[in-house]
Amino acid sequence: MKTITKDKIWLSSPHMGGGEQKYVQVAFDTNWVAPLGPNVDNFEKSINLFLGGSSNVAALSSGTAAIHLALELLGVTKDDEVICQSFTFSASANPIMYLGATPIFVDSEKDTWNISPKLLEESIKDRIAKGKKPKAIVAVHLYGMPYKVEEIAQISEKYGIPVVEDSAEALGSSFKNKKCGTFGAIGILSFNGNKIITTSGGGALIAKDEATKNKAVFLATQARDDAPHYQHSSVGYNYRMSNILAGIGRGQMEVLQDRVDQRRFNYNFYKKHLAHLPEILFLEEQDGYYSNRWLTCVLMPSFAIREKIRLALLEENVESRPLWKPMHLQPVFAEFPNYNDGTSEDLFNRGLCLPSGSNLSQNDLERIVALILTKI
Ligand SMILES: Cc1ncc(COP(=O)(O)O)c(C=O)c1O
Repeated sequence: MKTITKDKIWLSSPHMGGGEQKYVQVAFDTNWVAPLGPNVDNFEKSINLFLGGSSNVAALSSGTAAIHLALELLGVTKDDEVICQSFTFSASANPIMYLGATPIFVDSEKDTWNISPKLLEESIKDRIAKGKKPKAIVAVHLYGMPYKVEEIAQISEKYGIPVVEDSAEALGSSFKNKKCGTFGAIGILSFNGNKIITTSGGGALIAKDEATKNKAVFLATQARDDAPHYQHSSVGYNYRMSNILAGIGRGQMEVLQDRVDQRRFNYNFYKKHLAHLPEILFLEEQDGYYSNRWLTCVLMPSFAIREKIRLALLEENVESRPLWKPMHLQPVFAEFPNYNDGTSEDLFNRGLCLPSGSNLSQNDLERIVALILTKI
């Protein structure tokens, strides 16, 4: 281990493949500078192909917009209750609020750090006993690790509550060789700047059937009825992806598997050099699980040690970040019901996301590992 410099190392920064500008240039040359066009159509096709070929993909302006539309398409309205994994980014829960519905937060289990099937079922029974069956479940493949796909699907079927599969962080992950994004009644992806591939900002909704995709596109383009003039029978949104950004997306899809491979390499590098330390625990894949390892996350024995490492990295201009603060602990969501056993709070207190970009150099990785080894 060598070379301590103070160059900034980001947690997860955009990584262009080289092919993106060609598609953007064609959009300029042909004047498709609009939220529709050949790049949008072809980006959707390439995502569908990657997912296995039987999905219906709508490219949108963000993952958050996709969750909003997914909930609306599942009929969520004011006064409904929607279950949401508590251990996630706020964008999983905010759209529940946009619709005037009530979020019900459910804690995680330890194998995947995602929604606990046990607490999920308990929460559903309790909500039904209190008089209201939840309208949908937002389950998240956090940090790229698939949630307990089979257990959650069983509960969803048993109670007749559809799953919105928040796959924002999990493009390229799979469970039993089936791609994340294809498990829920509706799936969503994000192409935000920090994700495994990016369009600078963007997202996608993944529907099982064409009619649902068409409805999503209809709502995303201001809900214009079929008429020569502007005619509206429902409230719409301006959520469609730009043809320029979709051009970036097409280039990024060409390197998606390389990006997954590199992020998995990062995880294995950290593991190889740090797993011998009793202070650092890694989240392993369960049987049949394949994580894109969007971020490499580790658990330390205490908040104090986690902070010592985080601040030592910061001092050296290396960005790391505590794991997501659970939604049931966020002031904005404090008043809503939650079902928790302390798991995600513990993960938040002791967990750290290490720099994980696919554009990290060998020198960057060695510098980070050397820093941790000297500071722990
Ligand atoms: C788990 C999760 N859900 C939803 C989103 C929202 O995606 P976007 O930023 O594209 O709106 C993100 C990322 O930002 C996320 O990490």
